[in-house]
Amino acid sequence: MILVTGGAGFIGANFVLDWLAQSDEPVLNLDKLTYAGNLENLASLQGDARHVFVHGDIGDAAMVAQLLAQHQPRAVLNFAAESHVDRSIHGPEDFIQTNVVGTMRLLQSARAYWQGLDEARRAEFRFLHVSTDEVYGSLEPTEAAFTETHKLEPNSPYSASKAASDHLVRAWHHTYGLPVLTTNCSNNYGPFHFPEKLIPLIIVNALAGKPLPVYGDGLQVRDWLYVKDHCSAIRRVLEAGRVGEIYNVGGWNEKPNIEIVHTVCALLDELRPKSDGSRYQTQITYVQDRPGHDRRYAIDASKIERELGWKPAETFESGIRKTVQWYLANPDWVAHVQSGAYREWVQTQYSGNETP
Ligand code: NAD
Ligand code: TYD
Repeated sequence: MILVTGGAGFIGANFVLDWLAQSDEPVLNLDKLTYAGNLENLASLQGDARHVFVHGDIGDAAMVAQLLAQHQPRAVLNFAAESHVDRSIHGPEDFIQTNVVGTMRLLQSARAYWQGLDEARRAEFRFLHVSTDEVYGSLEPTEAAFTETHKLEPNSPYSASKAASDHLVRAWHHTYGLPVLTTNCSNNYGPFHFPEKLIPLIIVNALAGKPLPVYGDGLQVRDWLYVKDHCSAIRRVLEAGRVGEIYNVGGWNEKPNIEIVHTVCALLDELRPKSDGSRYQTQITYVQDRPGHDRRYAIDASKIERELGWKPAETFESGIRKTVQWYLANPDWVAHVQSGAYREWVQTQYSGNETP
């Protein structure tokens, strides 16, 4: 089996669902269930013996050691993190605890387990660390996109904590020989995205008749990738990535934020027109910029394409349409996230620590 950490979050849950749709290899899912962890994302796996959920912290070394010894995974995929830049600006502490200290402890636990494996299983074992393009810092408008050798110049507490974790992963390979792989991906979007991030926030606020907050001038550029394409890239890197290497993952799809907001508004005008006939874009409100806001990210994904043959399957047009349709089709999920009811749902649906 494989051990996935953070598998109740946005990307982790999409990954677990995709993995089990394509393979019968079981997943051990370790998640702390912070505000971002939502077992409703995995509701379709209830009763599926291939999914074993464990409520716990990647930094709990004793618990992780026991899990590894009991379940003997062939790989650890580390999605667990505090992931929201704005939250990191208000409270960096949790980011350092999970993204830095937690990753270090997980590396230590994985190393002890890996060293105890027999030769064949030791050769097969992988520690795959899921990271972000934000570690590379901000680009000028005409600068070339980030390659894997770009300097790490993180600018927010979030990206600094992720850059620190990337360094730790690198060091555990160089110093201890742990067979690691790192992926640095651009902004994801798709189903189960927590509505504190731009795209789901715009969809949810638009439908609720609320303002659509655009930071600063709205001309900050991000490279957007449909989450299922990120999942397929991770599967491919796990399968064929060269140990110790970094793979950038992106959609070749740079867009200014204001264009993203206009696209979402236009899709909603088409799919769920307002009863008063007005356009959703009239709800756009420019608000104060994020402190230290990175101006532009762009990923050069040619290495993963050249070496591993990976390319995104979705265009932005197809992916964003699927995403808006998913939010329109899942109002209960949105309502539970907004009311906090998903956390009660966890308590009523699951008791005890380990939940198949
Ligand atoms: P998310 O915030 O939606 O989910 C994070 C998950 O990790 C949650 O389920 C949470 O409960 C869990 N978690 C947090 N702290 C934990 C801990 N100490 N122990 C165990 N579980 C813990 O984040 P996401 O958007 O799904 O991102 C997943 C990973 O991908 C992160 O490492 C993030 O840095 C990286 N990433 C995200 C994006 C993006 O656009 N969202 C892009 C590139 C990389
Ligand atoms: P976000 O989804 O928080 O991802 P990240 O900061 O990790 O790239 O934000 C994406 C972009 O959208 C970023 O430039 C900040 C901007 N943004 C807004 O303009 N308004 C908002 O309400 C949010 C949440 C983000």
